[in-house]
Amino acid sequence: MKVMLKEAESFIRIFYGETNQSEQEMHIRLSEIEQQIVTTGSYEQTIEELAYGAKLAWRNSNKCIGRLFWQSLHVIDKRHIQADVAIFEALLEHIQFATNEGRIRPTITVFSPQNVRIWNHQLIRYAGYETNVGTIGDPDSIAFTKVCQNLGWQGQGGNFDVLPLVIQTSNNPPKLFDIPKEYILEVPIRHPEFEWFEDLQLKWYAVPMISSMKLEVGGISYVAAPFNGWYMGTEIGARNFADDDRYNMLPIIAEYMGLNTKSSASLWKDRALVELNVAVLLSYKEDGVSIVDHHTAAQQFKRFETNEAEAGRDVTGNWAWLVPPVSPATTHIYHKPYNNEKKTPNYLYQPLPY
Ligand code: ARG
Repeated sequence: MKVMLKEAESFIRIFYGETNQSEQEMHIRLSEIEQQIVTTGSYEQTIEELAYGAKLAWRNSNKCIGRLFWQSLHVIDKRHIQADVAIFEALLEHIQFATNEGRIRPTITVFSPQNVRIWNHQLIRYAGYETNVGTIGDPDSIAFTKVCQNLGWQGQGGNFDVLPLVIQTSNNPPKLFDIPKEYILEVPIRHPEFEWFEDLQLKWYAVPMISSMKLEVGGISYVAAPFNGWYMGTEIGARNFADDDRYNMLPIIAEYMGLNTKSSASLWKDRALVELNVAVLLSYKEDGVSIVDHHTAAQQFKRFETNEAEAGRDVTGNWAWLVPPVSPATTHIYHKPYNNEKKTPNYLYQPLPY
């Protein structure tokens, strides 16, 4: 209770300060909150507080290179809904609003801080299956895919099967909901020069919507608060498709390119990586799906740093996450240190529900 009040107070001070509201109003609000906490053990944030808190949480996300746009976050307040079907519908609404036919809108949907939990890591993600001929699909999804199967879900056994939404309310068993396919925008990956590239049959979904983290604002933990931005190309091209414990595409791409994969000094991995990343960026661009390359993203992050300095705030950051995995030293981020101190509001990891 003491902790909640302290957290609430420090958040309310930031909120009123940054939005130029009067000291007097702030003190009225603070005593209201204190009263609520004393009598009920918690307090209800206004929609304005929640919305600003969600934006601050983005601004404080040390691992995120996309923070220039923190003020443009769309906040959808679904704290009042409880039934799993209504939650499912709200998630579809989120997917549709955020996807916006490719012109992606950074969005968060906030559910009741109690009694709602989404088991998925992202609202849209591909299943992963362990088979006797090796892994099919996304190896990072193997454990969660098993959970879905144990709950009765049957995948197609393909490389890109979209997992169902798994929604839990209170202490009820979780329920599965398939996402109708018209909600799922995907981009087939092709290459501007290599015609064989489409034979690899790669595709990826348009919008990364993280649903496993909690939003922490003013002492309240919103454990179900899925949020999204748009992709930076390297997330897909240098990690999801490239990591050897993910889709592991570099060896086959290098082979198609006719590179000498026997000698690491031929730099076959690097050359395959660059062409794969070109393919991802151009495919998204051609399909009108928002995406940013890592050079542009780094420049945008530089503007964010300048803006913050001008506002008299220091930028915290996690260097290892901010540097892009392709050509890191071509960006300014590589060449300076970042202070990884963690501020609140923020988005935090939480234990898996399964
Ligand atoms: N890296 C994750 C993925 O590849 C997505 C994380 C969030 N990314 C973002 N651009 N908002 O699916």
